[in-house]
Amino acid sequence: MTKRKTTNTKKNKTVKPTQKEKTLSTAVNAESEDQSVEESPAKTASTENAQKTKAVKEPRKEPLKAEAVEETIPEEPVPEVYTTPRRSVAFIGSECYPFVKTGGLGDVMYALPKALIKQNCDVKVILPCYKCIPQEYQEKMVYKGSFQMDLCADGRSFYVGIMEYVWDGVVYDFIDNEEFFTTGNPYTNLIDDIPKYCYFSKAALAALNYMDWIPDIIHCHDWQAALVPVYLRIKFVDTKLTSAKTILTIHNLRFQGIYNIPTIRYWSGLPDYVFNKDALKTGYEDANMLKGGLTYTNIITTVSNTYAGEIQNSYYGETLDAHLRYHSNKLRGIVNGIDYDIWNSFTDDRLYVNYDITNVLEKKKENKRRLQEELGLAQDDHKFVIGLISRLTDQKGLDLVNSIMTQIMDEHTQVVVLGSGDSRYEDSFRYYEYAYKGNVCSNIMYDETRAHRIYAGADALLVPSQFEPCGLTQLIAMHYGTIPIVRETGGLKDTVEPYNMFSNMGNGFTFDRYDAGLLLDAINRAKSLYFLNRWCWDEMVQRDMDKNLSWDNSAKQYKDLYLDLTR
Ligand code: ADP
Ligand code: GLC
Repeated sequence: MTKRKTTNTKKNKTVKPTQKEKTLSTAVNAESEDQSVEESPAKTASTENAQKTKAVKEPRKEPLKAEAVEETIPEEPVPEVYTTPRRSVAFIGSECYPFVKTGGLGDVMYALPKALIKQNCDVKVILPCYKCIPQEYQEKMVYKGSFQMDLCADGRSFYVGIMEYVWDGVVYDFIDNEEFFTTGNPYTNLIDDIPKYCYFSKAALAALNYMDWIPDIIHCHDWQAALVPVYLRIKFVDTKLTSAKTILTIHNLRFQGIYNIPTIRYWSGLPDYVFNKDALKTGYEDANMLKGGLTYTNIITTVSNTYAGEIQNSYYGETLDAHLRYHSNKLRGIVNGIDYDIWNSFTDDRLYVNYDITNVLEKKKENKRRLQEELGLAQDDHKFVIGLISRLTDQKGLDLVNSIMTQIMDEHTQVVVLGSGDSRYEDSFRYYEYAYKGNVCSNIMYDETRAHRIYAGADALLVPSQFEPCGLTQLIAMHYGTIPIVRETGGLKDTVEPYNMFSNMGNGFTFDRYDAGLLLDAINRAKSLYFLNRWCWDEMVQRDMDKNLSWDNSAKQYKDLYLDLTR
């Protein structure tokens, strides 16, 4: 790890005491700073339930017509969410919109807790307090306490501060430590990231313990939080937290947090016996943080059913396929949704023109024209505009796009790329912009507003991924009436029903094998429908906007899982 300033300086927040004023060891339960948080769930749930039931049963106040008096008025069904018992859940992960987001994990960490609240859950989200979190949020955080936590094998301890922000019914607790969370980007390199996320995983549990907030479920996400179940079962057995059940969700199996055993053993402070081949050890001399988490967690989920199956074979298994097969009895797939408040073409204030399913055909044209204008493309309603919004990495199938770009580009087509990542992809898209001036625009950047405008202004969105655990861009595209062109893998397969020209049904164009020719064929099928049978195309646009892609169903599945685990 690069040597950094080791003073555990804290941010200049008003009411914060110094570290010395509140030094506690992790294993000791401190007095709760905010007991109401802990005590309220069951109470509020039952009061809410009572109120709801009362509201439903209350006699109608308005006079009924004489003939209607005889009728039996059917009782309104009690909303299902109130019929399941309340559960408290701690979400632990490394990014969350709008504080910090590099991809879909950030979206899920924001949207799923919100959806779980509607399923009668009490949710706390625990995140690192990165320096790059916008000032407007940092200013609103409230200091909840701090303590000193043992971490490393030699007993080295670190400051843990807890900064809280409550928004939309979700409590966000940020783990504050400037030594680990100073950089502008959450992820830098493994040399820094391994210690950072060992610290974060343990500090998240220590913070729960400190606040005396004992959740029914601890729901961890990806390798950055994968040591949580390990720490829980090894370092927190004597605390109240030990009653919690754990779920580890795999958003992307490619990233596992692998480093040599001595480094991870030192930084995690975990005992030698966890570095065995059934838990953290991988290969001859490495430790794998995700693998350890998969071993110790009660349940493993991933973000689509198809990906849950795929990762158990060697092509998609990223060397953990055998381990996942071994643990397959506790592995489930639950597909992601999208947040309908953020992704709502009718209210989205980032769009040039708002629209809904009733006027999409007209208004989408206007969005397309304005997009073309903003990006310096030829303004032409008749061009078929293909969008691509993606991290520019191997996962996303960009080598396929590269190899057929010249065939995609004809006088009827425009391509808009938005993304950043590997320089070879960034450079090749910059080249295509130059080669097809006025018809290709490569936005090599991360830009939320531009993303929204492309979803609304493009006709189709390309997602030809090599693998895709779920994928959110195809969901957002459909919800904005933009037809997805996707490879049939992972969540893409589970969410995009291929267009069938005979039944005129389906949501998009798909191809199966990872092959550039098949991608080109899918794009050409899309173009044919668009240019030769616009009526069917327009029907698909409306069908896609009408498709239920919200979190409701999936949040319910998570809730069922929580209930199963805590019966
Ligand atoms: P992944 O998490 O693998 O990157 P997803 O499809 O699950 O892929 O999620 C990507 C998320 O990031 C979507 O919300 C998408 O709109 C957003 N996104 C990706 N690239 C950019 C970018 N360059 N600018 C703005 N948003 C982006
Ligand atoms: C990962 C996956 C993506 C998924 C996202 C959210 O980044 O690559 O497919 O949608 O996580 O679960």
